[in-house]
Amino acid sequence: MTTETGKLRLGVNIDHVATVRNARGGAYPDPLRAAKLAEEAGADGITAHLREDRRHISDADIEGLMDVLSVPLNFEMAATDEMQKIALRHKPHAVCIVPEKREERTTEGGLEVAREENRLAHFIAPLREAGSRVSIFIAADMRQVEAAHRIGAEVIELHTGGYCDAHAEGRFDERDDELKRLREMTEFGHSLGLEVHAGHGLTYDTVKPIAAFPEVAELNIGHFIIGESIFRGLAPSIAEMRRLMDEARA
Ligand code: PXP
Repeated sequence: MTTETGKLRLGVNIDHVATVRNARGGAYPDPLRAAKLAEEAGADGITAHLREDRRHISDADIEGLMDVLSVPLNFEMAATDEMQKIALRHKPHAVCIVPEKREERTTEGGLEVAREENRLAHFIAPLREAGSRVSIFIAADMRQVEAAHRIGAEVIELHTGGYCDAHAEGRFDERDDELKRLREMTEFGHSLGLEVHAGHGLTYDTVKPIAAFPEVAELNIGHFIIGESIFRGLAPSIAEMRRLMDEARA
């Protein structure tokens, strides 16, 4: 298990390279090429979310990522039978279970683990047996952290979207409250023996306070890095995120 002194890992989410590709229905730009570039630029892992409606990443992308990556793949998926079968076929390094509603623009909240404890415990058991590290994407809420621990997850990923939105919209008191909750639940999760990750909506402006939590082992960042790469290129965008994370940790 990663300890406080471990290096903070950066997982680069490449979903939105596929979003741009799919806008024209062809093969360009190729998310696999972006993943290899991200790897060369210092990404410690690649994250991809195969959504039920395949709006960005496709089944073929997942197959390709499993073939070409040298760093671990973090496969994000909803807790459905279809996704479980796909994960069991590929056996990625990590599986992150996320809530998913077809109509939402992005993953809007954390998983309601506490309400679905039995089902989720059964759902993740075969994934763990297949050798994937199971992570549960949850809000920074004690009930959810405890439930994720009880169902046998090894990792929790805390949803930073509320913190980032509050920052972007200038609601600084709320932002600071969110940050406090994230810090407390990071410490609490770690004290239970869970590895703690964080992600969603992180930018150059919001990453440092989260990266500074000594117990956070990994950040997963996608939309901002892919957006920023329009302006400065993918490798420099990743390098700058890495620099800010390292600075916060130092
Ligand atoms: N972590 C999880 C579990 C996610 O679902 C997402 C979005 O797919 C991210 C991290 C990355 O969020 P963003 O693209 O906003 O950086």
